[in-house]
Amino acid sequence: MAATAAQSPLTLIPLIEAELARLVGNGDDLLELACLDALFPTGKLLRPMLCIESARAVGGRAESVLSFASALECLHVASLVHDDIVDQDPMRRGRASTAERFGIAEALLAGDGLFTAGWVAMLRNSPAGSVLQASLAVAEAMHAMCRASMHETTIREDLSCGRSAVLEVIRGKTAALTGAACQAGAILAAATPGQAEDLRRYGELLGTAFQIRDDLLPYTAHDKMTGKHAISDVANRQPTLPVLLAYESADDHDRRLLTRVFHGDADPATAHRDLLDVLTRTGAIAEATRQAHDCAAQARAALDGLPSAERLAQLADLAVDRHR
Ligand code: IPE
Ligand code: IPE
Ligand code: MG
Repeated sequence: MAATAAQSPLTLIPLIEAELARLVGNGDDLLELACLDALFPTGKLLRPMLCIESARAVGGRAESVLSFASALECLHVASLVHDDIVDQDPMRRGRASTAERFGIAEALLAGDGLFTAGWVAMLRNSPAGSVLQASLAVAEAMHAMCRASMHETTIREDLSCGRSAVLEVIRGKTAALTGAACQAGAILAAATPGQAEDLRRYGELLGTAFQIRDDLLPYTAHDKMTGKHAISDVANRQPTLPVLLAYESADDHDRRLLTRVFHGDADPATAHRDLLDVLTRTGAIAEATRQAHDCAAQARAALDGLPSAERLAQLADLAVDRHR
């Protein structure tokens, strides 16, 4: 059933944007300017929406968790600013990445500035007991993200690393924070421990679906739509789930081609085109799409015991039905 505008989590966007502007400052010095440049124009604002809708799903009010939820976006964007340095990506959200625009040293510092602004905004909330518990969940997720991002660098060029390694990276890199965003919203809205755990599980499954979809975007959507360079993963020789699925089911000819792409010195644009052909004819794109939808369905199922979770169900659909 199509959602009316009043029911959609997207109606939260202006509230979150106004709060973000308040948290980060007016651009009075270079740190604030670089942070604002990284935050605005905003992306999809998934993590703050998850936090707020999780609070609402257990009877909380959006306004009560708005500041904490917006702080999560600061942490997320900080991770993107640093990720674009790790991946040497010059483009983010359809324009120059922070490192490209301000320089690498400045982008490292802007990322640190966003991290710390986020923690300050989070810890300023009350009541202290729930804030501490919610912040701990988020801190643990951010640490899992660092570990997974480091792990990811160790499987570059490794087509034999196995699906489980890639799924572990996805869980740490993306699902941990989406899970913690939901768990934190629930904790701040005084959910029962069981509800908070259901919401964390929902958020992790949604995050897994979201990242699998993200890894498919270079093969299913144009750069103009995604705002990112499609060749990034192949230029970094980073195996993702669709690539591993293709490798598992490829014949000898396609395996040799994949090996050349991930070990040879082919031009990334040509390598990306070859990869698209192999991923299509082995059925890997279709299979990874199926797996993303399966995770999103499991995420929706985790909401079963919650009184008011229709908007969260919508977010699970948005995580997989997207082109950016
Ligand atoms: C990008 O996250 C990094 C991933 C975890 C896939 P988003 O796709 O949520 O980025 P924005 O914030 O909407 O740009
Ligand atoms: C996601 O990594 C970034 C983090 C979760 C830190 P990716 O490298 O897969 O995402 P994009 O493609 O740069 O957004
Ligand atoms: Mg990246």
